[in-house]
Amino acid sequence: MREVKLELCMQVYDHASEAPRAYVELLDAARTAMKKAYAPYSQFPVGAAALLSNGQIISGSNQENASFPLGLCAERVALFAAGAAFPDQAIRAIAVIAAKIDEQWISPCGACRQVMLESEQRGGQNMDIILTNRSGQIAVIPSAATLLPWCFDGHLLNR
Ligand code: THU
Repeated sequence: MREVKLELCMQVYDHASEAPRAYVELLDAARTAMKKAYAPYSQFPVGAAALLSNGQIISGSNQENASFPLGLCAERVALFAAGAAFPDQAIRAIAVIAAKIDEQWISPCGACRQVMLESEQRGGQNMDIILTNRSGQIAVIPSAATLLPWCFDGHLLNR
């Protein structure tokens, strides 16, 4: 038997002033999008903003439904909107923010990680994932694959 460890490595900026300006702006766009969340059931508004290769920002917020499972997370709203409107643009980064964040980083759900991974593979380049916490620290995770190690993806379907 041998033990295999999977590591998650991220860069943490203690202050926004140290972080790349484009990512601070992307978080601002996510914060603006969060104000348009439709979250009457969870009361947990989330915003996401995707930075495309052409510099455009496509944002989204969580959209819930009285039939609970039908709701969609902010990340997937943003990524699917980006894919639908700009199918040829890679997504360089996605920022995610939640209204009720505490000292813990908002952490994208498993379904969103799976969709982030495919957006990254589709674009053919790494996608940074930008997170923040209540103190205003900023974390940059260098790839969707980092957030979803040992994943299921399209390569497994084509064997
Ligand atoms: N939510 C997101 O939008 N993104 C996440 O990464 C986690 C959860 C939403 C889904 C639901 O509308 C609410 O937050 C509570 O789970």
